[in-house]
Amino acid sequence: MKLRNLFIGMAAATFSAIAMAQAPIVIKFSHVVAADTPKGKASEFFAKKAAELTKGKAKVEVYANSALYKDKEEMEALQLGAVQMLAPSLAKFGPLGVKEFEAFDFPYIFDDTADLHKITQGPIGASLLAKLEPKGIKGLAFWDNGFKSFSANTPIKTPADLKGKKLRIQSSKVLEEQIRSVGGLPQVMAFSEVYQALQTGVVDGTENPISNLYTQKMHEVQKHLTLTNHGYLGYAVIVNKKFWDGLPADVRGQLEAAMKEATAYANKIAQDENDSSLEGVKKSGKTTVYVPTKDERLAFKKAMAPVHTKMADRVGKDLLQTIYKETGFDPNKL
Ligand code: LMR
Repeated sequence: MKLRNLFIGMAAATFSAIAMAQAPIVIKFSHVVAADTPKGKASEFFAKKAAELTKGKAKVEVYANSALYKDKEEMEALQLGAVQMLAPSLAKFGPLGVKEFEAFDFPYIFDDTADLHKITQGPIGASLLAKLEPKGIKGLAFWDNGFKSFSANTPIKTPADLKGKKLRIQSSKVLEEQIRSVGGLPQVMAFSEVYQALQTGVVDGTENPISNLYTQKMHEVQKHLTLTNHGYLGYAVIVNKKFWDGLPADVRGQLEAAMKEATAYANKIAQDENDSSLEGVKKSGKTTVYVPTKDERLAFKKAMAPVHTKMADRVGKDLLQTIYKETGFDPNKL
């Protein structure tokens, strides 16, 4: 009897050892936007590629729409190791203490994604990601979304139209200053709370790329959308550094290859996703979409230009100058 029990015990131990050896490494990837956004689609693409290239050794579980955590909490969860991977917007690194990332929040600093890629895909981008390491975070890639536009319940044609309006922004000192520069009242709020805040009138308006506005149905509770394209919103894909460094080298290499493909995919679809979201907004008939004239665009640029001088010290004058040099933007010559 004893021998039989010993045998059963040994068999069970062998079985669980085999099961453990085969159990995939789970990577929880949390984000706050809808699945059918550039970030949502790219994270699903990465999950598929990761399974394929690691031959099932790694399993990426994607949690969209703040299903696990809201904005600020998800960063804490990553640092604690409760989730392994995130793709927060670049604005979310300022509150973490890496203020240089708020350079991306400066109004009109990038004219288009070509300008932006000179930074994110070059040495400046790499040095920014390296600044996350002391926080226990490893930066893997930059993913695009697009340029933000303002929405409200009243028409927006001039900066004065935003005067006195409570406008939701992400937690960023540069964005706060940007709203103040047009006489608005900045309201910092988690992304998952914006729809309701707009619906109930807690805030009057907001700014986001159209893919975020449309997939959260914000256009159903905003009567006017003006394509100001006044600032950039994109992401850094990050992992818990201890977790990442602890992965078997072959798996880590395969995941890096999957990330490379996912990044190319993300940056390829971002513009199209925003374009089709804009079509969706127009078709809904719930929001009037306004395209500013050249002069109107210039008026917004001029109104927001002082943000560059006021906030230069926060992100570092040298960093700003390097970006200006790459992009050709000069806030003093508009
Ligand atoms: C926001 O809070 O507006 C954005 O960061 C949401 C996102 O991740 O695109």
